[in-house]
Amino acid sequence: MRATWRKVALGCALTKKQQRWWFTVVPRAVASTGIVKVRRRIQRVAVDVKPWMWLPLPTRHGWRVTVRLLEGRIPADYSQAAERLAHAWGVHAVRVSSPRPGRIVLAVTIRDPLVRLDTLPASGELLKVIVGKLETGGPWTIDFRAVPHWLNAGATQSGKSNLANALIVGLAPQPVALVGFDLKGGVEFAPYAPRLSALATNRAESVALLGDLVALMLDRMGLCRAGGARNIWQLPAALRPVPVVVLVDELAELYLMADKSEKDEIAKTSTACCGSPNSGERSASTCSCAGSGSAPTLAPVLPRCGLSARGGSAIGSTTPKPRP
Ligand SMILES: Nc1ncnc2c1ncn2[C@@H]1O[C@H](COP(=O)(O)OP(=O)(O)OP(=O)(O)O)[C@@H](O)[C@H]1O
Ligand SMILES: [Mg+2]
Repeated sequence: MRATWRKVALGCALTKKQQRWWFTVVPRAVASTGIVKVRRRIQRVAVDVKPWMWLPLPTRHGWRVTVRLLEGRIPADYSQAAERLAHAWGVHAVRVSSPRPGRIVLAVTIRDPLVRLDTLPASGELLKVIVGKLETGGPWTIDFRAVPHWLNAGATQSGKSNLANALIVGLAPQPVALVGFDLKGGVEFAPYAPRLSALATNRAESVALLGDLVALMLDRMGLCRAGGARNIWQLPAALRPVPVVVLVDELAELYLMADKSEKDEIAKTSTACCGSPNSGERSASTCSCAGSGSAPTLAPVLPRCGLSARGGSAIGSTTPKPRP
């Protein structure tokens, strides 16, 4: 790979012209015999310089190599050339990351690691779930302690509920309380009802359950105040209540209004939904909400929601288009 790097970098337009002292052969006069006399000279000429490449390190699905960026180059140049590099090396994919300025890491996968998905390993840590595999073959982990609130938006049939199912399966063996809001009439979460601490399947039930959750949150904040702690993780283990994970499927349904009589109910839902993520973090109430990204009903709510992490689901989509 290093032997062909100059050729590959040149073909993928990753080289740069630089003036170098070069040993050249300059033609001079043509002799009567027809032989061209040449003169050897060292002179400054513009040559294509390749970026410096470290030794490739083998990984489970291919190899990884660090490259030093040439002056004026940015990691995006390599991201754009990633497909060209993959074809030049005859591998499945090349992914680009930049751990520090001036360096990029090319992660090369020889075969598609997502062709075969065996059972996922269980995560040993509280509120940490391995929900799938990344394109690099590494585990896709959702850590509710690092990022407590998630919004997963995506088109119909893009895998939103599948992710919610994976979260329930991963969290079920852990000492956490699971609360489900399944606004699709319960079809997604009903099979998990024995493990769930509470399940709401329509808006009336959701409003009541949200009220209970807000009361629980206030209760826990009182507990923290009394114990002189800033959040429940600072409380002694004996006093610490179990974390609550709230999973919402079809978030948009909470805000759909058939007539004006439902306005009050929606306002109550909205207040509870927006308030819970904002203060829930300290009382160990985390949540993951799934909703169809195209639903216009979500638009007025999202800017006020404290859902810090946002993801998108897309199955079988073509190359993603750059966002404006
Ligand atoms: N990661 C995945 N890889 C392959 N297929 C998947 C994946 N996730 C979901 N699917 C499949 O895609 C289909 C739709 O999944 P899912 O029901 O989770 O989508 P959704 O976004 O919740 O759809 P809806 O908006 O209708 O609720 C299902 O048949 C499911 O088996
Ligand atoms: Mg769904």
